Amino acid sequence: MSATLLLGQTLAFTADPFTVPPPEAARHDTRGGVLIEGGRIAATGQAEALRRAHPEVPVTDLGQALLLPGFVDAHAHYPQTGIIASWGKRLIDWLNTYTFPEESRFGDAAYAAEVAARYLDLVTAHGTTTVCSYCTIHPESVDALMAEGQARGMRLAAGKTCMDRNAPDSLCDTAQTAYDASKRLLERWHGQDRLSYVITPRFSPTSTPEQLSALGALWAEHPDCLMQTHLSEQTDEIAWVAELFLGARDYLDTYEAHGLLGARGLYGHAIHLTPRERARLAEVQAALVHCPTSNTFIGSGLFDMAGLAPVLPVGLATDTGGGSSFSMLRTMAAAYEVGQLAGTPLHPAQLLWLATAGSARALHMGDRIGRLEAGMEADLVALDLASTPAIAQRAGRAQDIWEAVFPTIMMGDDRAVAGVWINGARVKG
Ligand code: GUN
Ligand code: ZN
Repeated sequence: MSATLLLGQTLAFTADPFTVPPPEAARHDTRGGVLIEGGRIAATGQAEALRRAHPEVPVTDLGQALLLPGFVDAHAHYPQTGIIASWGKRLIDWLNTYTFPEESRFGDAAYAAEVAARYLDLVTAHGTTTVCSYCTIHPESVDALMAEGQARGMRLAAGKTCMDRNAPDSLCDTAQTAYDASKRLLERWHGQDRLSYVITPRFSPTSTPEQLSALGALWAEHPDCLMQTHLSEQTDEIAWVAELFLGARDYLDTYEAHGLLGARGLYGHAIHLTPRERARLAEVQAALVHCPTSNTFIGSGLFDMAGLAPVLPVGLATDTGGGSSFSMLRTMAAAYEVGQLAGTPLHPAQLLWLATAGSARALHMGDRIGRLEAGMEADLVALDLASTPAIAQRAGRAQDIWEAVFPTIMMGDDRAVAGVWINGARVKG
């Protein structure tokens, strides 16, 4: 079985930096190594010790580059690739003006395949090795992304977006057809190679109670699946949900009442939560997904990372194309900026953890991806911490690894991504 020894700086998280002092949550080696064998991390440690222990293994020396687990984007909409950075609308108008017309094209399998490939090329170039994506209502859109991810050996999660009201007719299914098509796709893709199927009601405004119940029933029949949806993103949306679901205690209750609240649930945005919603989400240990470039771009509000990350699983995500980037570096920068506006600057350890182990934990994949540790799958990224003159001159003054990596978090883009490995195979650099 072919093996490779990667040498560079390494950063291995050993704890959650929201529950221990952030700098103590990771081990940094200025001259570390990662031994890859058969698609897995076989060993990590000091470069010279690994070299001595494995003299026969070919070495890839990455110099000063920082080796990290590949980035994990816990919430994206790959069908929105073509409409990213569309101007001037808030959530509901943005959906109607830009998103729904584009999503209506994905019944065309050839178009879906073209966008799926383009999307995965883009995220890979930015160092992302796992995404959890919404598709469209069309089964073709799921087949396209799953097939492309499978061909690339990626650990990837995705599901058919379900809607049966408040969307164009061409984008609506029904309670029954959403259940049937989701079940067929789940049976086709879930657990194939590194793929996971995610039950995906878009959000309460575009599903009738009957459809939410049908998808809640499907989840109960397949409790090992993830379920993803949107929660409390904008105040107008929350007011609309209250009108649509007259008996509901709050937005979360529209999911809870239909079997759509659980530990394997992923709730995107979750900005304007009531005390009951916060308590209930923490009680069931549901995962929230912070989408900071989206929250500023669509004008949604400030996620309470400092209050929420210590009490329940939180992932980090681009929310492409409501989010304005494919890059998890840019997303970490936006999370830092949102944290500042909310009164708590996030430490670089917290940002990097959210983009790797934190998102992996939210996706219940933390035992497979998201950490540099023997036994984990070999999805890796190597960051050049001096990828532009502006970054290099600031990093040159750094006193420690956190100060050295922070300029790349704040100012880096795909030029900082010097190498990417998926399932042990190098796919960039
Ligand atoms: N809420 C429902 N659908 C969407 C979507 O596609 N993007 C975002 N940001 N919010 C949503
Ligand atoms: Zn979204």
